[in-house]
Amino acid sequence: MKKNILITGGAGFIGSHVIRLFVNKYSDYQIVNLDSLTYAGNLENIKDIENAANYSFVKCDIRDMDALKAVFIKEKITDIIHLAAESHVDRSITGPMDFITTNIVGTANLLDLARNNWDSADDHVFYHISTDEVYGSLGAEGFFTEETAYDPRSPYSASKASSDHLVNAYAHTYGLPVKMSNCSNNYGSHQFPEKLIPLMINNIRHSKTLPIYGTGENVRDWLWVEDHAKAIDVIFHKGKLGETYNIGGWNEWTNIDLVKLLCQIIDEKLHREIGTSEKLINFVTDRAGHDMRYAIDASKIKNELGWEPSVQFEEGLIKTVDWYLANEDWLGAITSGAYQTYYKNFYEKKS
Ligand code: NAD
Ligand code: DAU
Repeated sequence: MKKNILITGGAGFIGSHVIRLFVNKYSDYQIVNLDSLTYAGNLENIKDIENAANYSFVKCDIRDMDALKAVFIKEKITDIIHLAAESHVDRSITGPMDFITTNIVGTANLLDLARNNWDSADDHVFYHISTDEVYGSLGAEGFFTEETAYDPRSPYSASKASSDHLVNAYAHTYGLPVKMSNCSNNYGSHQFPEKLIPLMINNIRHSKTLPIYGTGENVRDWLWVEDHAKAIDVIFHKGKLGETYNIGGWNEWTNIDLVKLLCQIIDEKLHREIGTSEKLINFVTDRAGHDMRYAIDASKIKNELGWEPSVQFEEGLIKTVDWYLANEDWLGAITSGAYQTYYKNFYEKKS
């Protein structure tokens, strides 16, 4: 059966890397990118493949069941890789309802379409992309495994946990052929500059203050976004139906150490005296309910599917800095208008 794969959220950060990989690697698949183009979605992110014969884009909101169904039927969708979501934790704290409608109801719409339109005799995959934040927060020791109990603590992570539960419920109740992965923090090109790494690069570049929440001792496990896209490829093709795979970088950094490293890299690049940018660091009011530490045990995907991270962190970080410094136009366009107002309102309250 020819594969017509619906990839949702393909105009966003991770989705654009997944779309690029699939369109370039699998010329016999038809890739349909479905995205409503929120503030976080930008077709510039995938401009290089927009004319590929095996690619098409459709602007559609996953909350709109009728529109979604029309795309599903017209494009004869055989498989779904679902990335579309509201993804920024801070925004989920100031305005949770979009997270609840998109991440929960939107996912439920896709699941129900697949349930009602796929023949169980055929070969289909519904692959849901999720986050390590569903597992809650770690202390100084230990790792999240696929067996870790769910303990979401922000509206974002609770909405993602709800969608994960719905995916598993559809598999258990209706036998829907599902796969799922829960990944740690991604970094790389085309990430919206409200997230830690691109926000700091942009602020260091423009000598603006660097807002570190709380003490800066919170830990995240960083993964090169193209390694995540490769893991998604491997799971989509080789992962077992009904299984969950954790994806991570084995790469823990406190926020403060990471920001100091970025300051050093950018000072060197811009021929500033080393130490110049560190003076911009400003400790601000902590994020409400701020999870202390995330760290993924990525043994299962390595042992069962042979995937492991390929890009060393400093190398990836330098590539990321180079990309942002070379793409000031992209950054300027994406941060104009509504984002300026968001930034001003959000960070003025914190400092
Ligand atoms: P992003 O915010 O950069 O992109 C999300 C995309 O979804 C955007 O293109 C947006 O336009 C689209 N979208 C949002 N609401 C929509 C709706 N109602 N209908 C259709 N499209 C809609 O997000 P990202 O960082 O690329 O994350 C992608 C997925 O990966 C999310 O499901 C997220 O939970 C998950 N994830 C992200 C990370 C990370 O570090 N960024 C880590 C683990 C998992
Ligand atoms: O772990 C996976 C998750 O990683 C994904 O599911 C989310 O979609 C993604 O946004 C990311 O969530 P985080 O909350 O970890 O990422 P963020 O970049 O917002 O923040 C990273 C850390 O940096 C976190 O501890 C908060 C801190 N931070 C963030 C910002 C934006 C600051 O100290 N200052 C800031 O200005």
